[in-house]
Amino acid sequence: MLAPMAGGFTTPELVAAVTRAGGLGTFGAMGMTADGLRADVAQALELGGPPVGINVLLAPPESRGDAGAMRAFFAPFRQELGLPPEPEAPAGPPPDPPLALVEAGLEAGATVVSSALGDPSPLVPLAREAGAPLVSMAATVEEARAHVAAGAEVIVAQGAEAGGHRATFDVGPEGPPLVGTFALVPQVVDAVDVPVVAAGGVTDGRGLAAALALGAAGVSLGTRFLVAEESGAAPVYRERLLALRDTDTVVTDAVTGRPARWVRNRLVDALAGESPPHLGWGTQRAAVMDIWAAAAKAGDAELVPMLAGQAAALAGDVRPAEEIVADVVEGAERILAELATRASPPS
Ligand SMILES: Cc1cc2nc3c(=O)[nH]c(=O)nc-3n(C[C@H](O)[C@H](O)[C@H](O)COP(=O)(O)O)c2cc1C
Repeated sequence: MLAPMAGGFTTPELVAAVTRAGGLGTFGAMGMTADGLRADVAQALELGGPPVGINVLLAPPESRGDAGAMRAFFAPFRQELGLPPEPEAPAGPPPDPPLALVEAGLEAGATVVSSALGDPSPLVPLAREAGAPLVSMAATVEEARAHVAAGAEVIVAQGAEAGGHRATFDVGPEGPPLVGTFALVPQVVDAVDVPVVAAGGVTDGRGLAAALALGAAGVSLGTRFLVAEESGAAPVYRERLLALRDTDTVVTDAVTGRPARWVRNRLVDALAGESPPHLGWGTQRAAVMDIWAAAAKAGDAELVPMLAGQAAALAGDVRPAEEIVADVVEGAERILAELATRASPPS
């Protein structure tokens, strides 16, 4: 599976390419308008046919903390990028809420519904009515059980290595649970009676073979596809990903108000360090959004927040997504065949 990646990374071309290669392409729809998603789903179907998935993040928006203190914190960064002292209202219509996005995506012909950062129950009626399987991402055994009880038909078990936001929504003062993919997947497989897909740290055939050995029915790759030819990642983002080392990422809630794994750079380290308490999910992202866009445009790798997993270094090169899917599958087949030979007694 192409992991859903909100922020314009899962382009219609990328979604269609993964589906054409025999995988499942899924749009990360958070932040989009219903009309934008409708158009993208239609284009992906035209380019690659079904299946096409749509994913939403179910966390409700929050507003807390001290907006003035956050403005003061961002002031030197804004000045450095030549931005006005106050964030400007984003151009264009505001994004639509999760349920409106799912309705629009299904109307346009999407065949799979997926969600993270919350209880998937609100999506069950829409998914069932459309006959679309409901996929839900979980980062612990308890979450996986709860999501299946709520109606999820596939669980994506997201290990701590994963790039992007942690699937967990209710995070206590001790921070998000960070169970690694290797420990999480078999425990989730044992706990639920639906197919489990492994996510987090899978980039090649070795990862797929390992996930299958752990009992997963498949894998969901995010970071690897960020550097696919068809991805919407900016050049500065791709270059940084291709040079990333295993220790170059950090999990923090300071960038968007919810815990996520980011590439360490000057802005992320400053936010994760001595910054004022974040403003909550949605509000914090809005406070950082134009810095994000300006730094990406300027190609400033130290000031663009970049989500990435711990295995980014294994991504290796920029390739068409169809080749990535074929390589991962062929690589796993080769490893599994080799292991079968090793396991057989000599004749
Ligand atoms: C840039 C980026 C954006 C992401 N956005 C979403 C999203 O919108 N919805 C979601 O369910 N997961 C999102 N994720 C998490 C992925 O679904 C997946 O769990 C993760 O990428 C898997 O780990 P990997 O990056 O090591 O392959 C995102 C990940 C990245 C890297």
